[in-house]
Amino acid sequence: MKQNVLIIGSGGREHALAWKLAQSPRIGKLFVAPGNGGTCQVAENIPIEATDIDGLVQFAEKNEIGLTVVGPDDPLALGIVDAFRARGLRIFGPTRAAAEIESSKAFAKELMSEAEVPTASFRIFLKHDEALAYIHEHGAPIVVKASGLALGKGVYVCKTLAQAETALSEIMLDHVHKNAGDEVVVEEFLDGQEISIHAFCDGKTFVLLPPAQDHKPIRDGDEGKNTGGMGTIAPVSWVSADMLQTFGQQIVRPTLEMLAKRGRRFTGLLYPGLKMTSSGPKVLEFNARFGDPETQSYLRLLKTDLLDILETCVDGTLAELVIEWHSGFAACVVIASGGYPDEYKKGVPLRGVAEAERVSSVVVFHAGTSFEDELKTSGGRVLGVSATSDTLRNALDRAYEAAQLIQFEGMQYRHDIGAKALTTAF
Ligand code: AMP
Ligand code: GLY
Repeated sequence: MKQNVLIIGSGGREHALAWKLAQSPRIGKLFVAPGNGGTCQVAENIPIEATDIDGLVQFAEKNEIGLTVVGPDDPLALGIVDAFRARGLRIFGPTRAAAEIESSKAFAKELMSEAEVPTASFRIFLKHDEALAYIHEHGAPIVVKASGLALGKGVYVCKTLAQAETALSEIMLDHVHKNAGDEVVVEEFLDGQEISIHAFCDGKTFVLLPPAQDHKPIRDGDEGKNTGGMGTIAPVSWVSADMLQTFGQQIVRPTLEMLAKRGRRFTGLLYPGLKMTSSGPKVLEFNARFGDPETQSYLRLLKTDLLDILETCVDGTLAELVIEWHSGFAACVVIASGGYPDEYKKGVPLRGVAEAERVSSVVVFHAGTSFEDELKTSGGRVLGVSATSDTLRNALDRAYEAAQLIQFEGMQYRHDIGAKALTTAF
């Protein structure tokens, strides 16, 4: 049966979701709220903010939306899934209680301890003086995290004690992350490569997506400040099928079981970020949603109808579906505004997207763009240039060839996306 679908959010992830859902033979009308300059090319943008839960419920009821898909974390933390379900509306994503696995790092750490999921050793603090005493006792390197949602800026990886002291005073005394910093997690520094694991969950079972790798710091060589993510590859060759299976059994399964045991059954997409340490994989954090830019790589490789997958997750019938992927690799290179992740200009005219998409296999997903009379920048991460090929090297070459054709004042991107994976032995 045809379904009208509403996607919530405005990033590259949402453009990729819209691009893939638009290909479903069962798609009816496709809406994105609020969307961006790319989503309006494959769907209808609706000027309702992602956090306007009442407005979104009303829109879904009025427009006979058969399925709503939540992109970002903040509507989940506000309870959008609970609100939709209370009105009998089908929605892909976890309830507010289940989404706490992302919106409260303190909750996630305690849950991991109880479920014996491997993670960095940690302590949780409500008082600045106690946290300060603890970091002095432990020394650097050490990691200080605001427990709540802080626009990806609440994590301080501190190489020195002075940095940790500054982090604690910013979070706990200056309240730069507002009440997201009421609780603070101080944890052991973990060394190793990062991997993104994604699992579709229907509340009873789960299915893993291929492993992906994001690149968080702004500059080549993993230098500079952390960002939302500057580029991804999928799959990651050195993560074998056996390793992936182990992540499923030792990380995803016990986490889902512990959430269910606590009355917080999880449906939607569970995304643990892992660090591959010398003593095995450890969870850095959980996200309760699709990763961005991971999704921009994943959806280039997905063969199965995404609408079928999302519906089986919502309906609890995921076990009945076989999910298929194209062979080969996908890469996504994010092009960001000058200055990002700090202050940056908006409204800068942008050229070259059509030319970039003429490069073989390339699709350009929009993140921070708007389209009125012309295409302009409207955010920090502006575009995700994705490409596929039989080999990772080829996919990366294509993405970079296309990235060079994009032009706007101040633009920046990393030149080493996927480089680590190309040189890691497997
Ligand atoms: P999170 O939002 O918790 O994933 O943290 C953002 C980024 O900070 C991660 O992707 C890591 O690069 C880094 N990070 C977080 N926790 C740790 C840790 N315990 N050790 C080393 N790096 C970390
Ligand atoms: N890939 C980073 C994130 O989605 O949080």
